Amino acid sequence: MTDTVKYVLDESRMPKRWYNIVADLPSPPPPVLHPGTKQPVGPDDLAPLFPMALIMQEVASEREIDIPEPVRDIYRQWRPSPLFRARRLEKALQTPAKIYYKYEGVSPAGSHKPNTAVPQAFYNREAGIRRIATETGAGQWGSSLAFAGALFGIEVKVFMVRVSYNQKPYRRALMETYGATCVASPSSETQSGRAILEKNRDHPGSLGIAISEAVEVAATHDDTKYALGSVLNHVLMHQTVVGQEAMAQLEMANDYPDVIVGCTGGGSNFAGIAFPFIGAQLRGGKKVRVVAIEPAACPSLTRGQYAYDFGDTSHLTPLVKMHTLGSTFTPPGFHAGGLRYHGMAPLVSHCKELGLIEARAYTQTDVFKAGVDFARAEGILPAPEANHAVKGAIDEALRCKAEGKSRSILFNLCGHGHFDMQAYMDYFAGKLTDQKYDEGELAMALAGLPAVPKAA
Ligand SMILES: Cc1ncc(COP(=O)(O)O)c(C=O)c1O
Repeated sequence: MTDTVKYVLDESRMPKRWYNIVADLPSPPPPVLHPGTKQPVGPDDLAPLFPMALIMQEVASEREIDIPEPVRDIYRQWRPSPLFRARRLEKALQTPAKIYYKYEGVSPAGSHKPNTAVPQAFYNREAGIRRIATETGAGQWGSSLAFAGALFGIEVKVFMVRVSYNQKPYRRALMETYGATCVASPSSETQSGRAILEKNRDHPGSLGIAISEAVEVAATHDDTKYALGSVLNHVLMHQTVVGQEAMAQLEMANDYPDVIVGCTGGGSNFAGIAFPFIGAQLRGGKKVRVVAIEPAACPSLTRGQYAYDFGDTSHLTPLVKMHTLGSTFTPPGFHAGGLRYHGMAPLVSHCKELGLIEARAYTQTDVFKAGVDFARAEGILPAPEANHAVKGAIDEALRCKAEGKSRSILFNLCGHGHFDMQAYMDYFAGKLTDQKYDEGELAMALAGLPAVPKAA
């Protein structure tokens, strides 16, 4: 078959193991530091927040980790996800490029996030935990953890960034349908939230603030742990089912990507699709260009500093070395809520420092135009976050056209935008603007980066 559109794997070919890129990197990523002592943290330091099984995955150095059978069993509700060849988009663009996209919007919550929500809920349940607190930006992660909590009988409490809470009421309704509770962040339920509200009652919120609230709840309640939907090593590792499947599906297509594109908020969907291919390259396989796309209004990889910083605004988390805009930086309230994070996954940052990946930033009106063009050709309406990857892939395809070259482009269509229709309505009404972040605020946030010992 030469004109196949969907490459579909049988359930029996779903990955049995997660892939850990740490095993293949030429140097290990810098250690996580204790915020008080500024010394590397040990597993016990993280125990108030996470179950030990996840902490051990966080510090794991083996290349592969078995996916527990109960997790694989739930993955089968939507995995393996389809790989599409975007033949109609290729035609619309009149490009000689071959464009493939892995579609993660087929999951129950509508994005890649359940790939890690399910194992995180599983390991918490195994450790006897009854309640998990978390943050959410666009609501994709909150609804994914709410879904996973329902399956494992765990109560889920979600702090949702206020600007998204107001923009996306149906995401909150979905979380509540799964049985979770969801409050707008900053909230008056935590010290961290109250401190922010005292200074500004109308604060739009940020992922950094919502993380502080959720961490505070976990740290102050014995029956509650914390879960993060991105950034951490174990989260990125859980997402590698995406890239592993894509590899097998491209084999069915008798192809291999020249370029891989993903959007980056905290880095998990990007790592999920890219790390298995980068790993193959590091082990002597074919070289692949890997491009991370981020919003111009929150450009951690392209404008941030590579430095130790807190993962949250109230400075409750350990210090990680990453590309950061400063933990107090509040990005403007643009529509790709999942990309409004001040930092980047340490493993993605490390890969950037090693020259294994590139990064580009796009404005929101440009990415919405790309999303609309994509929907009109392929039918699927992408999430605003995913539109960044769509635009990245389209630009690569147009470059092929300009150069008269055919390349294979693979991108992660990490979620659908069915709960994001207000953003599309605003786009069509001409109300979406390309808000700039405040340069003065960025400079101040960067000036506040914590001091760490030289060796780190
Ligand atoms: C659909 C979608 N894509 C991307 C992201 C960004 O997260 P990450 O960079 O970890 O994939 C989010 C986060 O909420 C999301 O909902």
